Amino acid sequence: MNNRNIIKFVLDGNIKEIDFSTAQYTPTTTLLHYLRTLSNHKSVKEGCGEGDCGACTVVIAEIVEGKMQYRAYDSCLIFLPSIHGKYVITSENLGTADNLHLVQKALYEFDGSQCGFCTPGFVMSIYALYKQEYTPDKTEITDALAGNLCRCTGYRPIIEAAEYACKNKTDDEIGKSESRIAELLNSIDRTDTIMIETPEQKYYLPFSKSEALKLREKFSNAVVVAGSTDVALRVTKKNELIPQILDLSQVKDLTYLKVSDDELTFGANFSLEDIRLMCKEHLPALHEMLCYFGSRQIRNRACLGGNLGSASPIGDTIPVLMAYDAEVVLEKTGSSRKLKLRDFITGYRQTQCADNELITEVCVPIPDKNRKIKSYKNSKRKDLDISTVSACFSLKIEDGIVKDIAIFYGGMAAYTKRAINIEKALLGKVWSRENVESAMMGISNDYQPISDARSGEKARNIMAANLLLKFWSETKQ
Ligand SMILES: Cc1cc2nc3c(=O)[nH]c(=O)nc-3n(C[C@H](O)[C@H](O)[C@H](O)COP(=O)(O)OP(=O)(O)OC[C@H]3O[C@@H](n4cnc5c(N)ncnc54)[C@H](O)[C@@H]3O)c2cc1C
Ligand code: FES
Ligand code: FES
Repeated sequence: MNNRNIIKFVLDGNIKEIDFSTAQYTPTTTLLHYLRTLSNHKSVKEGCGEGDCGACTVVIAEIVEGKMQYRAYDSCLIFLPSIHGKYVITSENLGTADNLHLVQKALYEFDGSQCGFCTPGFVMSIYALYKQEYTPDKTEITDALAGNLCRCTGYRPIIEAAEYACKNKTDDEIGKSESRIAELLNSIDRTDTIMIETPEQKYYLPFSKSEALKLREKFSNAVVVAGSTDVALRVTKKNELIPQILDLSQVKDLTYLKVSDDELTFGANFSLEDIRLMCKEHLPALHEMLCYFGSRQIRNRACLGGNLGSASPIGDTIPVLMAYDAEVVLEKTGSSRKLKLRDFITGYRQTQCADNELITEVCVPIPDKNRKIKSYKNSKRKDLDISTVSACFSLKIEDGIVKDIAIFYGGMAAYTKRAINIEKALLGKVWSRENVESAMMGISNDYQPISDARSGEKARNIMAANLLLKFWSETKQ
């Protein structure tokens, strides 16, 4: 481990180094705050500091399976060390006032900018689309822009600008310099764990699972981060000084999807956006939920291990994966164990993951064709909002009779909880509206939800009951 205190990445076409021994930045300085200290990257704006507005959006490129992959991220949620070995691109890198990039020019010509505060963030979200091999349709564009808020222009001209730029794309300067940038990225070592030590903090950035497990064993008090979309808020919103961090974001052998005849296996670091794109055929209820999960920038960064590890009562993948009867693999150096996700979460933000273990894999059985599984999310807004109540139902009917049913709700208790009493009331009964409505009357036997800023107890109970009724109406024979 010889990489003490230094990270390297590509910015403005050259390798940049940050030495954390020079006290200007800490390991939990966000990429946003770093860029704001540079005179030539002031386009990157701080709006909310919590992933909600997209004003801080940058594109980060890296080589994935031999190709440069460009994705949009909220720079306010990224701790600096995790950009080691990557290529950071901001609006300034696309074009200048005298020589605008097509994306910037389109926003200008389609009247897609008024006060301009949000514009560099939109530029970068559109640029990530522009760099894809396909031409995105309107649905894809609106999805990619759902994480960018504009309070004065209105979205029509921005969407039109994005459509125009993506339809008329040419090989831009960044594209032309790709092979040179790839050489620079390849010259940055990503094998030896980076260990940053400052008087107040320690930050470990391993590149392999075995190294990550060793560090987990040795520094069991370190806060584990993967995408950091949850943990970063402790710094940006609560001003917390996290003394020790173990960052898994660059552990390649935790980043995979394996598909067999009967199971999908996700490495814990597999991003939620990659999962969304790849699970539609086999796990449509998970795909559906991920379409309403955060924003593109959040899903590009957030990982499945992070969503399960946070054990949030409103973690959106949890009810869905419980309904699919997924299993979680926990590993420590030298051994591993597999448990049902249904047993993994033990309380409010509590799991069975021990101090020396990591979530390494999530195995999801492909359900048989006779089983109906559907997920639902109730929130105040369709896009980029957290659940008030979420649900996933798994049902097997034979000759009109409920042979098997599993019901999981998020937002109804301190953690995702199974509706045991409702299930009992339905098992062996005809799958009829009458029986479903009668079972719904017993919802308070399973849940006593809290009233909070998002909703009241009574409203939550009504929402939960109505989601079951919706499921019935979509699955009745
Ligand atoms: C703007 C915004 C919108 C959001 N929208 C949603 C939403 O719609 N639905 C939703 O459910 N969540 C949402 N979230 C919350 C968050 O994005 C998700 O929980 C996300 O899945 C966390 O993943 P991560 O990789 O970023 O986790 P991190 O922040 O890196 O970690 C989260 C927790 O998991 C633990 N952890 C991570 N990886 C492992 C591992 N391999 N082994 C053991 N523990 C691990 C960490 O220690 C930490 O406790 C949102 C967050 C933001 C900021
Ligand atoms: S500052 Fe709002 S998303 Fe980053
Ligand atoms: S142009 Fe003013 S916020 Fe979008």
